[in-house]
Amino acid sequence: MMVAASPDSAAGGERGTLVLGIETSCDETAAAVVARSPKGDGRVLSNVVRAQWEEHRRYGGVVPEIAARAHVECLDGIIGEAMREAGVAFPDLDAVAATAGPGLIGGLLVGVATAKAIALAHEIDLVAVNHLEAHALTVGLTEGLRPPYLLLLISGGHTQLLIVHGVGRYQRLGTTIDDALGEAFDKTAKLLGLGFPGGPAVEKAAAAGKRGRFTLPRPMLGRSEAHFSFAGLKTAVRHQAQALAPLREEDVADLCVEFEAAVAESVADRVRRAMEIAGERLPDGARHLVVAGGVAANKALRGALTDLAGQEGYTLHVPPAELCTDNAAMVAWAGAERLRLGLTDGLDFEARARWPLDPAAVPALGAGKQGAKA
Ligand code: KG4
Ligand code: ZN
Repeated sequence: MMVAASPDSAAGGERGTLVLGIETSCDETAAAVVARSPKGDGRVLSNVVRAQWEEHRRYGGVVPEIAARAHVECLDGIIGEAMREAGVAFPDLDAVAATAGPGLIGGLLVGVATAKAIALAHEIDLVAVNHLEAHALTVGLTEGLRPPYLLLLISGGHTQLLIVHGVGRYQRLGTTIDDALGEAFDKTAKLLGLGFPGGPAVEKAAAAGKRGRFTLPRPMLGRSEAHFSFAGLKTAVRHQAQALAPLREEDVADLCVEFEAAVAESVADRVRRAMEIAGERLPDGARHLVVAGGVAANKALRGALTDLAGQEGYTLHVPPAELCTDNAAMVAWAGAERLRLGLTDGLDFEARARWPLDPAAVPALGAGKQGAKA
């Protein structure tokens, strides 16, 4: 009970909450324990993540069936590790929160079924968490930043601009009409013969690249909606690469640096448009741009967003890398935030492969599989 006493004491007698989070929506198996004080401060007591890169590397992308099997094999052990590291026993928990969507259904089923078993066995609350909401609320845990704010979510499966009005209240301003940004990095890396996951590989190669040798498009520049598109950019890289084949190391580096520049300019333009649309909907004092998802680690993009935020009077917030990429601390935190509002779920809650944060958002014109997914 040592750790359970900590959120209690933070409250000056009033009890805080302890939540176990579980994340299995894609290719990371993760578990974490987070404490939330009654004042709303969050503390990560443990954060265990096991990436499945080795299992998927030879395929150059995530294979759903392999991912689900890997979750089955290691989730119990990862949960045990997270509980041990936090110094917490199951009866100390107030709730167990699991990502219940959107994502690969096999993995989601593993995480949700495990969470239900824990909730049932230990008579604690169950919170079914939307993975995108977990990314969206992470700044509350890391910086104590509360909604409303503007959110740019850029990961392997999602690319969205949203106004976060509050827990459970989101307004989507833009989405991708084709590939997610992380997916564009991964596909570009694959076609250039770089490793998986592609984002870090492209960034590493780009470090040795020189600008100006190639011309790549800036997708969606100046469009009135705040939507994204990356399929054309990736195809343009393919055409330039095919024209030059076989590629030397410096060709790859020069293509990567140009790809990053095109992405940075395109994304900054789309975020600028979202800031215009958000306009009065964001009250004064809410001029915060939060960037979440694995691609937020990209330095070229971060630089462009820092410049943009400075120009537009916004403050930029990027959670630390380990809480930006997929993790279970963000799931536990979203669970704690929902628990506080009484938003718990029944044991009959079913995992959802698709689960939009803003159900009222109309599909983006020309939305392919990825655009519709989010
Ligand atoms: O959020 P995340 O860990 O998982 C998903 O929910 O998808 O994001 C993973 C994505 C991958 O596509 C990966 O290539 C990309 O984030 N990524 C990066 C960088 N680090 C990870 N993309 C560009 N630059 C990076 N440094
Ligand atoms: Zn994610």
